[in-house]
This record gives sequence, structure tokens and C-alpha cells, in this order.
Amino acid sequence: MCGIVGYIGQRNATEILIEGLRKLEYRGYDSAGIALLNTNGVHVFKEKGRIAALEELLDETANGTIGIGHTRWATHGEPSRLNAHPHQSASERFTLVHNGVIENYEQLKKAELSDVDFVSETDTEVVVKLIEKKVQGGKSVEEAFRSTLEQLHGSYAIAMLDADNSDVIYVGKNKSPLLVGLGEGFNVVASDAMAMLQVTNQFVELMDQEIVLVTRDFCRIKKLDGTVVERKPFTAELDASDIEKGTYPNYMLKEIDEQPAVVRRIISEYRDEDGVIKVEDSVRQAIKEADRLYIIAAGTSYHAGLVGKQLFEHIAGIPTEVHIASEFSYNMPLVSKKPLFIFISQSGETADSRAVLVHVKKLGFKTLTVTNVPGSTLSREADHTLLLYAGPEIAVASTKAYTAQIAVLAITAADAAVERGLEVKMDLTQELSIVANAMQTLVDEKEKIEALATNYLQTTRNAFYIGRAVDYYVCLEAALKLKEISYVQAEGFAGGELKHGTIALIEKDTPVIAIATQSHVNGAIRSNVKEVVARGAKALIVSMEGLESEDDQLVLPEVNDLLTPLVSVIPLQLLAYYTALHRGCDVDKPRNLAKSVTVE
Ligand code: G6P
Repeated sequence: MCGIVGYIGQRNATEILIEGLRKLEYRGYDSAGIALLNTNGVHVFKEKGRIAALEELLDETANGTIGIGHTRWATHGEPSRLNAHPHQSASERFTLVHNGVIENYEQLKKAELSDVDFVSETDTEVVVKLIEKKVQGGKSVEEAFRSTLEQLHGSYAIAMLDADNSDVIYVGKNKSPLLVGLGEGFNVVASDAMAMLQVTNQFVELMDQEIVLVTRDFCRIKKLDGTVVERKPFTAELDASDIEKGTYPNYMLKEIDEQPAVVRRIISEYRDEDGVIKVEDSVRQAIKEADRLYIIAAGTSYHAGLVGKQLFEHIAGIPTEVHIASEFSYNMPLVSKKPLFIFISQSGETADSRAVLVHVKKLGFKTLTVTNVPGSTLSREADHTLLLYAGPEIAVASTKAYTAQIAVLAITAADAAVERGLEVKMDLTQELSIVANAMQTLVDEKEKIEALATNYLQTTRNAFYIGRAVDYYVCLEAALKLKEISYVQAEGFAGGELKHGTIALIEKDTPVIAIATQSHVNGAIRSNVKEVVARGAKALIVSMEGLESEDDQLVLPEVNDLLTPLVSVIPLQLLAYYTALHRGCDVDKPRNLAKSVTVE
């Protein structure tokens, strides 16, 4: 949610900042801006819209060997040029970019800045104006920066320029991610290492409530009380080519295509020397000690969690609950005596999930994060982590992370079953390999799926997905995919539930996509299809080999019935993809969304 970058070195910062912002656009893309400091002072360029719109503004004054940049996902104030970052203090001495939400900005405005004019509706402007006020009151810039951050409630990653000092970027962080990247004669700042891989792979992680004075050849980390902190850099393992589209027209298609390879990689990452796939001992122990699992997640990860519940209960016999993170925080259910909280999050940064993590840790409960991003906030703060090994997922709509989450949960469940002395009725390595092959068959059937998208979804206003048992969970994910990238109103329903109200919405040619991969409900879901067809619906049935009938439009290769979501979701991702593409939507960056949601 919002991305920030900074550069201080010998080169003109403009290109590095713009390139960095492009890599961070997944964090928000409703406006963007940069500020550069040179001998003529600070030059701010900002614009509503994408980075491309910002680039059009840049002229010969866009130069300086020190600069900061921002790409925004609006929280306070509409997306507009005025609300875009950077924001400046009244005298324009200080220029600042911010990612996060300052919860007490209105109180601070009233208490400390009642005599100051504001030009934007943002919470951020309060911060930069408060810093200037403190400097005018006699504090050094560092003291003013530190003491202002001390007063802030909420989340922030901040980078600030001082027009009177071209040798330092002031940086601070609380709850929003921020890294300092180290180079020879230059240093950089970024919300995500990905943004600065172009210039370095050496990064220093910042902890909450730390500030950093970043100069050309040094970065001094301090706590808010001024104590100096020593921290070693780490090497970002990302390969720059992982974050390029290559020959693909967009990231989403690339990421859909990568899914068979991701499942194969997960098998090999979780396989021990004897070829057995398992999780590390500490995770196994944590699951063994738990009397109930609580899966906490948001969006697509929540949908993977629902499948996870099925896996933990059916394979390992462990009672499992799945909760939407933002609901759990404010409506906590009764919790068992020895719970294990499992946080599923592609990014590892989702604020809603983190709020639950912080809360349950305070209550003394054990925690495990399943994430794609090593070193992410949820990973660092949980007792244990399981990685997805899916490679960077850049399209906002999650695809390969969803299937990777389910594959890792399946491995964890099978491992827990062995630990509990249960007989696991499948060879998971073999079953996951069959899944990877089935996925490959489906990604190779793009033309057929594209034709189905054209036939069923091209011009529709709405669509329904129906399924029973685990297919219902996939319906929720399929509907979310279609909604988020093509803006078609879509809902996933339990097949049997439609008739209790929602069937009223079915009219002539309403698309109803039915998933039928489960033998024990095959008859029932097909009856539900008949009910909607009788009312005019245009049904598209996705079934599985062995369960198919001649009416089915798509028959999936057969896989183990506990693992069908890994396969059935692929054509549904592609249906959403082609629908969005043919409707002229920006598939990778749908309106109003962001990939990493670091505000609650
Ligand atoms: C955002 C993204 C979704 C994602 C959700 C949870 O809303 O747009 O695609 O599923 O956050 O993100 P997480 O990183 O926690 O999986």
C-alpha cells in the first residue's frame, strides 16, 4: 500500500527513482511523485495516475543526486495531484513521502498546527509541517524528525529531504515496510528490495520505531530515543529476471503459466534427503501441540485458507477454523486452550492479518506464517514460517501464490498426519506431481478457455459460480478473480444455497459456472445446475475426468479429490483473465486495488 523510494549518490536520481517506482506500482498506482534536490533547491513533480503520467512532467529541472519518490494508494483524500506525495512544509524546506496511516493526524493538527494552512487532505502533510514547526522552534532537524515520529500513532514508512542539507535522507519506519539499500558511494531507500535491485542487492532491514540518516556512504540507524543500532546487511536473493515480464503481455498470464513449475519447486524445496516431503521439525512440533488451528487471512489467501481447513481436517484430523483477518480483530471467537494461529499471506505485510498476529501474541498463543516473502513482517513476527517458493507475484490479482499456499498447506497437513500416527492414504509427492501435470495441460488449453470467456462472460453484467464441498471454496476464489480484474459483478455460492434467495437473480442468459470435481456431491451439483438452467441461466460446467457428462464444457484431468482446487482454479483464473483482457481492462493493475495492503 503505497511504495516509497529514495536515492543519494553521485548519479542523477531521476531515472533510478522512476525505475524503482515502476517496480513498486503493485503497492498502489493512483498517483505518483518524486522530489529532487540540487543546487537550485528542491523540485517536486507529481501527478494523478500512473508513473507514465508523472514521467510526462519531467523536464531538465528533474535532476539532483539526492531524491525521494512515491506511488500512492489513496487513504486520506481522493487520488489527485494535490493529495499525491511528496508533501512539503510551508517554507518548502522539508519534502516528505509516506506509506501508512497516521491515526492521530487530526488531533495533532488541532493541538500543534492550528495556525498552519494545509493544501491537501492527507494525513501525511501534518507530519512534514510538524517537523518544520519543531525546527523553527529551535530543534535540530534530526531531533525534530525523531520527536515528531514519537508523536505519531499508526503506521508509517517515511523518507524526507531537507533543502538545506543535500547530504542526507531522513528515514523512519513503524509497521510499514522499509529497507535501506547499500552501494559504493551511494545508498537507496525502498519499500521493497525489488525496487532497487537495479542498483544493489545489499539491504539493511529496519525495525519498527527506528530512524535512519542515509548519506552517500553511510547509514546510521537509531531508535526513536536516539540510541544507535548496529545491524548487518543481507543479500536479497531475488533474481532481477524474476521480476520481468519476459515475452508475456502482462504479469498475470506469466504467473498463471508458472503454476506447474511452482508446484514442482515446492515439492523439491520440502523434500528431505530420503525423498520424503515434510515441514521443519519446529513447525511439526507446533502443530502437534495444538488442539485447534486458526487460519487467519485476507482476500485470496483467505480462500486458500478455506481449502487448508479441508486439508487439515481430512488428512490430519485437526479441527481447523478459518477467519477473515479484519473480522477476527474486532469479533474474536472463543479460542481453544492450545491454539496455533496460522497466518496465510502472499506478501507477509497485510495490516489486517498483522493486527491479529500482534493481538494473539500478546495473549501468549503460538503463531505460524505461510508467506511468499522471506523476511516480511508477518514472517519476522511469527514464531515459525513456511515459505511458498512461488517467486515474486507482481500482478495484483493473486494466482500462483494461491496454488502455492494450498500446496504448502497440503504438505503441512500430510506431515501432521504422519506425526499423529495417522495413515495418509496418498503419496503426496506423487499426487502433487500429477497435479503439476494437470495444471500444465490446462495452461496449454488457453485457446479453448479464451473461447469460453468470449462466449459466456464477454458482455455479461454479472455471473455466478456454484460448487459444493471444496468446489464451493474454489467458487469464492473464481468469483473474486473475475470481479477484481474484469469488474463483472460475480458471486461464488454453495450449490445448495442458491435456491434460498439468490436464484431470484437468475434470468435469461445469466452465466452460471459450476464446478464438479467431487464424486460425493456430483449428483447434487448437477441438480443445482438444472435448477438454474430451468430459469434461463447459461451454464458452463467444469468437471473432472471420471465425473464428466456430455453437457460439460471443460473436463479437468483427474487428480486426488483433496487436491482438486489446485487444478480447477486454473481455467477459472484464465476465464477471468481473458474476460478482463477482452473488456479492455488493465489486467495487472485493476482499479482501486493494491497488492500489499498495509492499512487496516
Ligand atoms: C490484497 C490483494 C489480494 C490479496 C489480499 C491479501 O487485497 O489485492 O490479491 O489476496 O490483499 O494479501 P496477502 O498478501 O495477505 O495474501
